[in-house]
Amino acid sequence: MAATALAIQQFSGLDEAEIQARIVAAKERLGERVAILGHHYQREEVFRHAHFSGDSLKLSRMAAQSQADYIVFCGVHFMAEVADILTRPEQVAILPDLAAGCSMADMANLAKVERAWRELNEVLGDVESNITPVTYINSAADLKAFCGRHGGIVCTSSNARNVLEWSFKQREKVLFFPDQHLGRNTGYRMGLPLEEMVTWDFMKPMGGLTPEQIRKAKIILWKGFCSVHQVFRPEHIAAFRAKFPEGRVISHPECSFEVCQKSDYVGSTDFIIKTIAESAAGSRWLVGTELNLVNRLHEQNKHEGKHVHFMSPTLCMCSTMFRIDPQHLLWTLENLVEGKVVNRIRVAEDIAGEARSALERMFAV
Ligand code: 13P
Ligand code: SF4
Repeated sequence: MAATALAIQQFSGLDEAEIQARIVAAKERLGERVAILGHHYQREEVFRHAHFSGDSLKLSRMAAQSQADYIVFCGVHFMAEVADILTRPEQVAILPDLAAGCSMADMANLAKVERAWRELNEVLGDVESNITPVTYINSAADLKAFCGRHGGIVCTSSNARNVLEWSFKQREKVLFFPDQHLGRNTGYRMGLPLEEMVTWDFMKPMGGLTPEQIRKAKIILWKGFCSVHQVFRPEHIAAFRAKFPEGRVISHPECSFEVCQKSDYVGSTDFIIKTIAESAAGSRWLVGTELNLVNRLHEQNKHEGKHVHFMSPTLCMCSTMFRIDPQHLLWTLENLVEGKVVNRIRVAEDIAGEARSALERMFAV
């Protein structure tokens, strides 16, 4: 890490225009050998260099289909892991800054999930035939592998409903991790009452639940959350509606239940982009998702007189994704031009194999 920081320092004296020009030049020299994937939350100065952009689901499909030697993921760590899992062994997945993690993904780990699985087994008896484990794609590869070996599956924010429907066809209950909000919002929209969705507090024995609560539950929700989406509050929506009664509200399902209930539309980043793009000229939107995407939506839609507002009065962005800056992208690409691979993300084959089966079940759904 220290060596990376030193390497990046060589760019500190360069102005932004020169960095941008050198990224373009390195990209040209690499040609089809490189595919740069950019998540919608990526900052503009990096996002503009992506060959493919999208939400988590689309980018994982892009990675799986790519023929490039190098997949440079301008996103966060779990996304680059998915790219490595879904590509051929000789293809290389790269994360330009290894510190670009996901605070939500870090809220679940294998030891804690395995403990939960054992404790659930104590209450339910044969846990394997009672519970389908479902992991949000925002999770480490070994948790995807856990789902793979226990008959479970991966979901993203755009297919969570279909995945949950599939899961309930396999077994009567679901253990959903790490994002409680995506699980709760999706379950509720499928018609499950809140009482049948209990929250598993991973800091407490037996998740802080009674055996009775566990037996009655349909979905056991891991108590994780996204630090970006939790800043949006129902009162932000109330203030917007008071000022702009004709305005519409659209939120990401990582937002709280209360925020999603008060929104007109709820969906993934791709869904949010599409819905606003297809709305009538002059319409006004309050958007509950990451700031870089909302700023881009504002720019892309203003020529049609559409107004796009950010939901929170305080500026909040995905600070880990923000670590992928033009300097790190340039450093990565120029090293590749010289034949050197930096910041490769590699998932051990035993973990990758099981994780792949959970991802493939998702693609099949
Ligand atoms: P989507 O890309 O699935 O909308 O999810 C947003 C997100 O938080 C990515 O980490
Ligand atoms: Fe993780 Fe939230 Fe950032 Fe998405 S926005 S990568 S869930 S911290």
